[in-house]
Amino acid sequence: RASRCSSSISSFPRTISSLLHTPLSDEKASETVTITGWVRSVRRMKNVSFAHVSDGSTIHPLQAVLTKEQSENLSMGASVKITGEWKESVRGKGQQSRELLAEKVEVFGEADPLTYPLQKKYQTPEFLRTLLHLRSRIPANTNLLHLRSGLISTLTAFFAENSFIQCHTPVITSSDCEGGGEVFTITRPKDFFKTPKYLTVSGQLHLETLVAAVPRVWALGPTFRADKSDTARHLSEFYMLEVEIAFIDTLDPLIALIEDMVKTLIRSISTSRLGRETLSAAGGGDKAKELEERWRGLLERSWSRITYTEAISRLGSAVEQGDVQFVSPPVWGAALQAEHERFLAQTVFNGPVFVTDYPKGLKPFYMLPSVSTPPAPEGGETVACFDLLVPTVGELVGGSLREHRYDELLAEMRRQGITVRDEDEEAESLRWYLELRKWGSVKHGGFGLGFDRLVCYLAGVENIREAVAFPRWYGRCDC
Ligand code: 4AD
Repeated sequence: RASRCSSSISSFPRTISSLLHTPLSDEKASETVTITGWVRSVRRMKNVSFAHVSDGSTIHPLQAVLTKEQSENLSMGASVKITGEWKESVRGKGQQSRELLAEKVEVFGEADPLTYPLQKKYQTPEFLRTLLHLRSRIPANTNLLHLRSGLISTLTAFFAENSFIQCHTPVITSSDCEGGGEVFTITRPKDFFKTPKYLTVSGQLHLETLVAAVPRVWALGPTFRADKSDTARHLSEFYMLEVEIAFIDTLDPLIALIEDMVKTLIRSISTSRLGRETLSAAGGGDKAKELEERWRGLLERSWSRITYTEAISRLGSAVEQGDVQFVSPPVWGAALQAEHERFLAQTVFNGPVFVTDYPKGLKPFYMLPSVSTPPAPEGGETVACFDLLVPTVGELVGGSLREHRYDELLAEMRRQGITVRDEDEEAESLRWYLELRKWGSVKHGGFGLGFDRLVCYLAGVENIREAVAFPRWYGRCDC
């Protein structure tokens, strides 16, 4: 017989966040509460000790006042349960106007101060990356967990309000969506799937099948790239937010949706406690001001848009005028390098810019030729696509209209050597993808946004390895 659960969520100990952010009913009032958490610091005076305790519900710790005996086994990192009187601080002036006068202190797990690697002093991000199992206890990292979760809640509401449904795409796939050859191949257990399978590089192709049934879909899931870029914006495993919309024939609705979506996220954080804590976690002072300024700037202006061809000519003019020097000269037909993207977003536009209509030769097989006729050198074919570039992070979003015509798609797949046998289908072929164009094909398009890059941008975090709790990058997968 199934047994009934005897407790409910309402019987959980109060969170420190709820205590710190709910005023007492009047100045003299106090209440008996129980909290659980981890000791962030202990200060021992002659007769009394002060412990800062954190439970991860907020980046701010709660101050508990203990007797000398009660604090005996307490040290930084120890896990505790404290019951006591939550009341106005008699000591006044301190950081907190209220404190917990401990009556009962229970230590669950001690932490030996001689071996506990997290210290109260500043520890570099590089060092903390060697402690992935512990670093989420650091306030800035705790805040990033809250920020990610808060952003996802807002995204979920945003998409529901706009009639999108959330879908799940597979992690194990048969093809390399982007054709970049940066796939991780699954090789074990031997012959399990008969033919090679891969960790997905993008859920796009599967979302395209779903958008042929439900015209507005979105997904957020892990994607994988065996990309050897050892930079502050590349991970081997990252979260991608993907959107696909049917019955559209220009890039405009995609571009408008992205701007609206990111602005909605910023509005939701900048007016909430999550935003205030994110500013404190950014380091307060000038850093917080800079971040707040970034949010305001993003909200106030409408974002810029240029074609790839115009971007190349703007970059070329800047070089000619001696405003900038690049390691790779900007040339039509070549990919925009990180240095070009940075210059465009940071110096030319000083904000987000959508660069549209890249040369066909730079982009994957599934993109539709440009629908307008953007300026391009003679014979230069372009496709209906865009990248969103933002200052500091570089490329945040990549999107396009998809080739919806059977014959054109088949020709392009053949040209790029993609397996599409019509009759004798092999498991790794993309026949299913092509077949979508056979029955009830519609014009459609979508995009993928690097969620971890967005977190960096909105939190003012410089390295993407801090934006995820367990980063994997070239050569490193530690915890
Ligand atoms: O531009 P990408 O490669 O686009 C696609 O994969 C499309 N199939 C998406 C779609 O249309 N549904 O990747 C999309 C975004 C990039 O703009 C970037 O922000 C992020 O994913 N990204 C990475 N983020 C972290 N580490 C990496 N190695 C990344 N590679 C791409």
